[in-house]
Amino acid sequence: MDAIRVVGGRRLQGRIPISGAKNAALPILCATLLSDRGCRLRNVPALRDIQTTAALLRFLGRDVEVACPEVTTATVSGEVRPEAPYELVRQMRASVLVLGPLVARYGRAKVSLPGGCAIGARPIDQHLKGLEALGAKINVEHGYVTAEAGTLRGAEYVFDLPTVTGTENLMMAAVLAKGVTILVNCAREPEVEELGRVLNKMGAHVEGAGTSVITIRGKDSLDPFDHAVIADRVEAGTFMAAVGAAGGEVLLEGAPLDDLEPVVVRLRQAGLHVERQGDDVLVGRHGALRAVNVTTAPHPGFPTDMQAQLMAMMCVADGRSVLTETIFENRFMHVPELQRMGAHIETRQHTAIVDGGFPLQGASVMATDLRASASLIIAGLVAEGETLVRRVYHLDRGYESIEKKLGGVGAEIERVRLEGGLP
Ligand code: EPU
Repeated sequence: MDAIRVVGGRRLQGRIPISGAKNAALPILCATLLSDRGCRLRNVPALRDIQTTAALLRFLGRDVEVACPEVTTATVSGEVRPEAPYELVRQMRASVLVLGPLVARYGRAKVSLPGGCAIGARPIDQHLKGLEALGAKINVEHGYVTAEAGTLRGAEYVFDLPTVTGTENLMMAAVLAKGVTILVNCAREPEVEELGRVLNKMGAHVEGAGTSVITIRGKDSLDPFDHAVIADRVEAGTFMAAVGAAGGEVLLEGAPLDDLEPVVVRLRQAGLHVERQGDDVLVGRHGALRAVNVTTAPHPGFPTDMQAQLMAMMCVADGRSVLTETIFENRFMHVPELQRMGAHIETRQHTAIVDGGFPLQGASVMATDLRASASLIIAGLVAEGETLVRRVYHLDRGYESIEKKLGGVGAEIERVRLEGGLP
């Protein structure tokens, strides 16, 4: 079992290339199901979640070649079984993104319920109600959702709350529905906007993706696409927090600064210098790090996917910061691990109060989810001595070669194999 070993105390200096966005690539890969002809996706990060999605698409009868940063699918021949089994869905919740395209393309779909995960219960009721509004008959039994619809029909659907994959699933269903669909209270994340761009490249009529109202005029069939995925705002934000914690100056090549505005505002308040340089972003911290308060919110609010990394940074800032998590009910799993490293954090329900400025000490810690893992690495970069972050498979789901990228800017970090040790 692999672990990441970090020895703290190095300032970061140099350049880091930012990879394509995981959460944009996953729905786009599922959108390939909407066309029977081969598609090409470029700037795809080499991640476990991409492999899992490719395995799912293969199960669904697609020929998929993964040669990151490129993924290609081939023209479909033969019978397609529109079913996503538990074995694949349980590995990655985003597998539920095949539901919309499958029912739109084949008139029926059977997809395992994803279940909860480390960060919360994460129901999919909005995906299902939305599909029902488009005329699908939904049945949930034996842990599977079955959606049946001879043909989906355009309709108006108002989400009870903005959901990223829920919005994406409905968009992918509506592009092949008869008539016009109006989706209201949509998630406005850049990844939703990106999916809208790809669907339009396929010949769909999608208007308003990236805003709270999306209007879709259905088509009978869609074309294949060739598309380069946008850069990963969460990966870039994670490296910004790493520089904030460790100090130094790093050029983030291709970082999507506009998508990161809600994060950058807070980082500047905390004392970081963030500046656009052509297609890149220079981030640095030379002076003191100040405490800032943050409440997570749907885009364009502060992203929940950056909360853990900001908390690690706040552990070494001057003063008290208050971080409130409003998206997922259980997204403070990194707190006990940070506390083991000497962090002064108190949690009250969905709020964490961080008293910064106490030195962190290296320790053996356990990653519990993807972003929590990244926060422990950031803490390790400033901790005294050695930190061993275990359960690295979480990191491999969403960060491409994080140890190489941080090692390249001067961090003392490596992937190690734990012989006979606990995972
Ligand atoms: N929700 C419902 N009902 C639904 C759908 C969502 O109650 O039918 C609730 C969720 O439980 C949560 C809130 O709505 O409280 C928002 O969840 P959302 O559906 O937006 O999350 P998601 O689509 O499952 C995506 C990202 C997550 C990211 C969230 C929030 C992908 C593949 N995943 O998840 O990314 O945290 O949006 O921005 O796009 C990550 O990359 O580490 C990650 C967890």
